[in-house]
Amino acid sequence: MASEISCNDPFGSASCDLGLIGPESVGLCRADLRVSTETLRRYRSLLTTGERERGDRFRFADDARRFVVARAVLRLLLAKLVGQDAAALEFAVGPYGKPALGGDHPPQFSVSHSHELAAYALASRPVGLDVEHLRPIDGALEIASRTFTDAERTALEQASGDRRSATFLRCWTRKEAYVKATGAGLSKRLSSFSVAGDRESAIVIHSDDARDADRAIHVMSVAIHPDYACAMATTGPIRTLRQFDWLHPAV
Ligand SMILES: CC(C)(COP(=O)(O)OP(=O)(O)OC[C@H]1O[C@@H](n2cnc3c(N)ncnc32)[C@H](O)[C@@H]1OP(=O)(O)O)[C@@H](O)C(=O)NCCC(=O)NCCS
Repeated sequence: MASEISCNDPFGSASCDLGLIGPESVGLCRADLRVSTETLRRYRSLLTTGERERGDRFRFADDARRFVVARAVLRLLLAKLVGQDAAALEFAVGPYGKPALGGDHPPQFSVSHSHELAAYALASRPVGLDVEHLRPIDGALEIASRTFTDAERTALEQASGDRRSATFLRCWTRKEAYVKATGAGLSKRLSSFSVAGDRESAIVIHSDDARDADRAIHVMSVAIHPDYACAMATTGPIRTLRQFDWLHPAV
Protein backbone atom coordinates (compact mmCIF):
# COMPACT_ATOMS: atom_id res chain seq x y z
CA MET A 1 0.00 0.00 0.00
CA ALA A 2 1.35 3.43 -0.95
CA SER A 3 1.47 6.08 1.74
CA GLU A 4 1.81 9.79 1.10
CA ILE A 5 2.35 12.54 3.63
CA SER A 6 1.22 16.11 3.10
CA CYS A 7 -0.40 18.84 5.14
CA ASN A 8 -2.84 21.65 4.80
CA ASP A 9 -3.67 25.06 6.17
CA PRO A 10 -7.25 24.99 7.48
CA PHE A 11 -8.04 28.65 7.02
CA GLY A 12 -5.92 29.37 3.96
CA SER A 13 -5.28 27.76 0.62
CA ALA A 14 -5.23 23.99 0.77
CA SER A 15 -1.88 22.61 -0.23
CA CYS A 16 -3.27 19.11 -0.37
CA ASP A 17 -6.19 18.12 -2.51
CA LEU A 18 -8.61 16.31 -0.24
CA GLY A 19 -10.74 15.65 -3.31
CA LEU A 20 -8.34 12.89 -4.25
CA ILE A 21 -10.03 10.30 -2.08
CA GLY A 22 -11.21 7.59 -4.41
CA PRO A 23 -12.47 4.01 -4.54
CA GLU A 24 -9.16 2.60 -3.35
CA SER A 25 -7.57 5.60 -1.64
CA VAL A 26 -8.32 6.93 1.80
CA GLY A 27 -7.30 10.20 3.43
CA LEU A 28 -6.03 9.84 6.98
CA CYS A 29 -5.63 13.05 8.92
CA ARG A 30 -4.28 13.46 12.42
CA ALA A 31 -4.83 16.50 14.62
CA ASP A 32 -3.21 17.48 17.87
CA LEU A 33 -6.01 18.34 20.29
CA ARG A 34 -3.91 20.86 22.23
CA VAL A 35 -4.79 24.36 21.02
CA SER A 36 -4.57 27.94 22.27
CA THR A 37 -7.51 29.53 24.09
CA GLU A 38 -8.18 31.73 21.06
CA THR A 39 -8.23 28.76 18.66
CA LEU A 40 -10.54 26.90 21.03
CA ARG A 41 -12.89 29.89 21.01
CA ARG A 42 -12.88 29.98 17.20
CA TYR A 43 -13.46 26.24 16.96
CA ARG A 44 -16.33 26.39 19.45
CA SER A 45 -18.04 28.99 17.27
CA LEU A 46 -18.23 26.40 14.46
CA LEU A 47 -20.30 23.99 16.56
CA THR A 48 -24.08 23.75 16.74
CA THR A 49 -25.85 24.62 19.98
CA GLY A 50 -26.32 20.89 20.63
CA GLU A 51 -22.62 20.19 20.12
CA ARG A 52 -21.65 23.05 22.41
CA GLU A 53 -24.03 21.77 25.06
CA ARG A 54 -22.49 18.32 24.73
CA GLY A 55 -19.05 19.86 25.22
CA ASP A 56 -20.30 21.72 28.28
CA ARG A 57 -21.51 18.50 29.90
CA PHE A 58 -17.99 17.07 30.27
CA ARG A 59 -16.86 17.10 33.87
CA PHE A 60 -13.27 17.99 33.06
CA ALA A 61 -12.21 20.98 30.96
CA ASP A 62 -9.62 18.89 29.09
CA ASP A 63 -12.29 16.45 27.93
CA ALA A 64 -14.52 19.33 26.81
CA ARG A 65 -11.63 20.89 24.88
CA ARG A 66 -10.80 17.59 23.19
CA PHE A 67 -14.40 17.11 22.10
CA VAL A 68 -14.74 20.68 20.76
CA VAL A 69 -11.46 20.58 18.84
CA ALA A 70 -12.13 17.11 17.40
CA ARG A 71 -15.62 18.08 16.22
CA ALA A 72 -14.54 21.45 14.80
CA VAL A 73 -11.68 19.90 12.83
CA LEU A 74 -14.09 17.26 11.51
CA ARG A 75 -16.38 20.05 10.32
CA LEU A 76 -13.50 21.92 8.69
CA LEU A 77 -12.18 18.83 6.92
CA LEU A 78 -15.61 17.83 5.60
CA ALA A 79 -16.36 21.43 4.59
CA LYS A 80 -13.25 21.35 2.38
CA LEU A 81 -14.41 18.10 0.80
CA VAL A 82 -17.96 19.18 0.03
CA GLY A 83 -17.32 22.90 -0.52
CA GLN A 84 -19.70 24.09 2.18
CA ASP A 85 -19.51 26.21 5.27
CA ALA A 86 -18.13 24.18 8.21
CA ALA A 87 -20.67 25.55 10.67
CA ALA A 88 -23.58 24.76 8.34
CA LEU A 89 -22.88 21.04 7.90
CA GLU A 90 -25.62 18.82 9.28
CA PHE A 91 -24.92 15.34 10.59
CA ALA A 92 -27.40 12.50 10.58
CA VAL A 93 -26.80 9.84 13.21
CA GLY A 94 -27.22 6.12 12.50
CA PRO A 95 -29.13 3.72 14.77
CA TYR A 96 -26.00 2.94 16.78
CA GLY A 97 -24.49 6.40 16.77
CA LYS A 98 -22.45 6.57 13.54
CA PRO A 99 -22.51 10.15 12.21
CA ALA A 100 -22.92 10.77 8.46
CA LEU A 101 -23.44 13.63 6.05
CA GLY A 102 -26.60 13.79 3.97
CA GLY A 103 -26.91 14.37 0.23
CA ASP A 104 -26.04 12.33 -2.85
CA HIS A 105 -22.79 10.35 -2.52
CA PRO A 106 -21.47 12.26 0.51
CA PRO A 107 -17.89 11.53 1.60
CA GLN A 108 -17.66 8.74 4.15
CA PHE A 109 -15.70 9.37 7.29
CA SER A 110 -14.77 8.03 10.67
CA VAL A 111 -13.42 9.89 13.67
CA SER A 112 -11.50 8.68 16.66
CA HIS A 113 -9.84 10.48 19.50
CA SER A 114 -7.70 9.32 22.37
CA HIS A 115 -5.68 11.40 24.82
CA GLU A 116 -4.38 14.39 22.76
CA LEU A 117 -4.78 12.94 19.26
CA ALA A 118 -7.77 13.00 16.94
CA ALA A 119 -7.72 11.05 13.69
CA TYR A 120 -10.01 11.18 10.70
CA ALA A 121 -10.46 8.70 7.87
CA LEU A 122 -12.01 10.20 4.73
CA ALA A 123 -13.15 7.87 2.01
CA SER A 124 -15.63 7.22 -0.74
CA ARG A 125 -16.79 3.98 0.86
CA PRO A 126 -17.80 3.04 4.42
CA VAL A 127 -14.83 3.38 6.73
CA GLY A 128 -14.06 2.91 10.40
CA LEU A 129 -11.08 4.24 12.34
CA ASP A 130 -9.89 3.80 15.90
CA VAL A 131 -6.91 5.21 17.78
CA GLU A 132 -5.83 4.42 21.31
CA HIS A 133 -3.10 6.09 23.30
CA LEU A 134 -0.50 3.43 24.16
CA ARG A 135 -0.68 2.96 27.90
CA PRO A 136 -0.63 0.16 30.46
CA ILE A 137 -3.95 -1.71 30.36
CA ASP A 138 -4.81 -3.13 33.77
CA GLY A 139 -6.56 -6.46 33.46
CA ALA A 140 -5.95 -6.86 29.73
CA LEU A 141 -6.41 -10.64 29.99
CA GLU A 142 -9.64 -10.24 31.93
CA ILE A 143 -11.09 -7.76 29.38
CA ALA A 144 -9.93 -10.08 26.59
CA SER A 145 -11.71 -13.03 28.21
CA ARG A 146 -14.98 -11.18 27.52
CA THR A 147 -14.21 -9.48 24.22
CA PHE A 148 -11.53 -11.41 22.29
CA THR A 149 -11.76 -14.63 20.31
CA ASP A 150 -9.64 -17.68 21.24
CA ALA A 151 -7.00 -16.81 18.60
CA GLU A 152 -6.80 -13.20 19.78
CA ARG A 153 -6.51 -14.30 23.43
CA THR A 154 -3.73 -16.73 22.54
CA ALA A 155 -1.74 -13.93 20.87
CA LEU A 156 -2.27 -11.76 23.93
CA GLU A 157 -1.15 -14.47 26.34
CA GLN A 158 2.01 -14.98 24.29
CA ALA A 159 2.95 -11.30 24.55
CA SER A 160 5.35 -10.86 27.45
CA GLY A 161 4.93 -8.21 30.18
CA ASP A 162 5.73 -4.91 28.51
CA ARG A 163 4.36 -5.94 25.12
CA ARG A 164 1.01 -7.14 26.41
CA SER A 165 -0.72 -3.75 26.64
CA ALA A 166 0.42 -2.78 23.13
CA THR A 167 -0.74 -6.15 21.79
CA PHE A 168 -4.09 -5.66 23.49
CA LEU A 169 -4.53 -2.17 22.05
CA ARG A 170 -3.51 -3.25 18.56
CA CYS A 171 -6.21 -5.92 18.60
CA TRP A 172 -8.71 -3.59 20.27
CA THR A 173 -8.30 -0.84 17.68
CA ARG A 174 -8.82 -3.35 14.88
CA LYS A 175 -12.04 -4.54 16.47
CA GLU A 176 -13.29 -1.01 17.04
CA ALA A 177 -12.38 0.01 13.48
CA TYR A 178 -14.46 -2.91 12.20
CA VAL A 179 -17.57 -2.07 14.27
CA LYS A 180 -17.19 1.60 13.31
CA ALA A 181 -16.99 0.76 9.60
CA THR A 182 -20.23 -1.20 9.77
CA GLY A 183 -21.77 1.40 12.10
CA ALA A 184 -22.81 -1.27 14.59
CA GLY A 185 -20.58 0.14 17.33
CA LEU A 186 -20.77 -1.83 20.53
CA SER A 187 -24.12 -3.37 19.54
CA LYS A 188 -21.85 -5.90 17.82
CA ARG A 189 -20.40 -8.51 20.19
CA LEU A 190 -16.64 -7.98 19.95
CA SER A 191 -15.92 -11.67 20.51
CA SER A 192 -18.09 -12.63 17.53
CA PHE A 193 -15.37 -11.87 14.95
CA SER A 194 -11.60 -12.21 14.82
CA VAL A 195 -8.99 -9.68 13.76
CA ALA A 196 -6.05 -11.93 14.68
CA GLY A 197 -3.33 -11.95 12.05
CA ASP A 198 0.10 -10.64 11.31
CA ARG A 199 0.88 -7.03 11.89
CA GLU A 200 1.26 -5.70 8.36
CA SER A 201 -1.37 -7.12 6.06
CA ALA A 202 -5.09 -6.42 6.03
CA ILE A 203 -7.46 -8.98 7.51
CA VAL A 204 -10.65 -9.58 5.58
CA ILE A 205 -13.68 -10.25 7.74
CA HIS A 206 -16.69 -11.83 6.11
CA SER A 207 -19.70 -10.82 8.13
CA ASP A 208 -22.56 -13.20 8.82
CA ASP A 209 -24.57 -10.34 10.30
CA ALA A 210 -27.69 -9.67 8.22
CA ARG A 211 -27.52 -5.97 9.19
CA ASP A 212 -24.25 -5.55 7.27
CA ALA A 213 -24.87 -4.52 3.68
CA ASP A 214 -21.16 -4.88 2.94
CA ARG A 215 -20.11 -8.34 3.99
CA ALA A 216 -16.34 -8.21 3.36
CA ILE A 217 -14.52 -5.65 5.48
CA HIS A 218 -10.76 -5.12 5.23
CA VAL A 219 -9.13 -4.28 8.56
CA MET A 220 -5.55 -3.15 8.99
CA SER A 221 -3.29 -1.58 11.59
CA VAL A 222 -1.84 1.80 10.62
CA ALA A 223 1.32 3.49 11.93
CA ILE A 224 -0.16 6.87 12.77
CA HIS A 225 2.02 7.99 15.69
CA PRO A 226 4.64 6.27 17.85
CA ASP A 227 2.51 6.78 20.99
CA TYR A 228 -0.78 5.50 19.56
CA ALA A 229 -2.23 2.28 18.21
CA CYS A 230 -4.44 2.79 15.18
CA ALA A 231 -6.52 0.65 12.86
CA MET A 232 -8.73 1.31 9.89
CA ALA A 233 -11.46 -0.78 8.25
CA THR A 234 -13.14 -0.33 4.88
CA THR A 235 -15.40 -2.21 2.55
CA GLY A 236 -12.76 -3.29 0.06
CA PRO A 237 -8.99 -3.04 -0.29
CA ILE A 238 -7.09 0.21 0.14
CA ARG A 239 -4.23 0.79 -2.28
CA THR A 240 -3.26 4.33 -1.24
CA LEU A 241 -3.33 5.94 2.16
CA ARG A 242 -2.80 9.70 2.06
CA GLN A 243 -1.68 10.74 5.52
CA PHE A 244 -1.53 14.37 6.52
CA ASP A 245 -1.53 16.57 9.60
CA TRP A 246 -4.09 19.17 10.46
CA LEU A 247 -2.41 22.48 11.21
CA HIS A 248 -4.27 24.68 13.65
CA PRO A 249 -4.43 28.36 12.70
CA ALA A 250 -1.71 30.54 14.20
CA VAL A 251 -3.52 33.10 16.35
C1 LIG B 1 -18.56 4.78 20.14
C2 LIG B 1 -17.63 3.65 19.79
C3 LIG B 1 -18.00 3.22 18.40
C4 LIG B 1 -16.16 4.10 19.78
O1 LIG B 1 -15.89 4.72 20.96
P1 LIG B 1 -14.46 5.14 21.50
O2 LIG B 1 -13.38 4.23 21.05
O3 LIG B 1 -14.62 5.36 22.94
O4 LIG B 1 -14.25 6.59 20.88
P2 LIG B 1 -13.63 7.08 19.52
O5 LIG B 1 -13.05 8.41 19.79
O6 LIG B 1 -12.75 6.08 18.88
O7 LIG B 1 -14.89 7.25 18.57
C5 LIG B 1 -15.89 8.17 18.87
C6 LIG B 1 -16.51 8.60 17.58
O8 LIG B 1 -17.04 7.46 16.91
C7 LIG B 1 -18.16 7.88 16.15
N1 LIG B 1 -19.21 6.92 16.41
C8 LIG B 1 -20.08 6.84 17.43
N2 LIG B 1 -20.86 5.75 17.29
C9 LIG B 1 -20.46 5.12 16.16
C10 LIG B 1 -20.88 3.96 15.47
N3 LIG B 1 -21.88 3.18 15.90
N4 LIG B 1 -20.24 3.60 14.33
C11 LIG B 1 -19.23 4.35 13.86
N5 LIG B 1 -18.78 5.48 14.45
C12 LIG B 1 -19.40 5.86 15.60
C13 LIG B 1 -18.47 9.33 16.49
O9 LIG B 1 -17.95 10.13 15.46
C14 LIG B 1 -17.68 9.54 17.76
O10 LIG B 1 -17.19 10.85 17.84
P3 LIG B 1 -17.69 11.84 19.00
O11 LIG B 1 -17.54 11.08 20.30
O12 LIG B 1 -16.80 13.01 18.91
O13 LIG B 1 -19.11 12.12 18.67
C15 LIG B 1 -17.87 2.44 20.66
O14 LIG B 1 -17.21 1.36 20.09
C16 LIG B 1 -17.49 2.55 22.10
O15 LIG B 1 -18.15 3.17 22.89
N6 LIG B 1 -16.42 1.87 22.54
C17 LIG B 1 -16.03 1.75 23.94
C18 LIG B 1 -14.66 2.23 24.14
C19 LIG B 1 -13.96 1.48 25.26
O16 LIG B 1 -14.52 0.74 26.05
N7 LIG B 1 -12.64 1.64 25.27
C20 LIG B 1 -11.77 0.98 26.17
C21 LIG B 1 -10.59 0.46 25.35
S1 LIG B 1 -9.27 -0.06 26.31
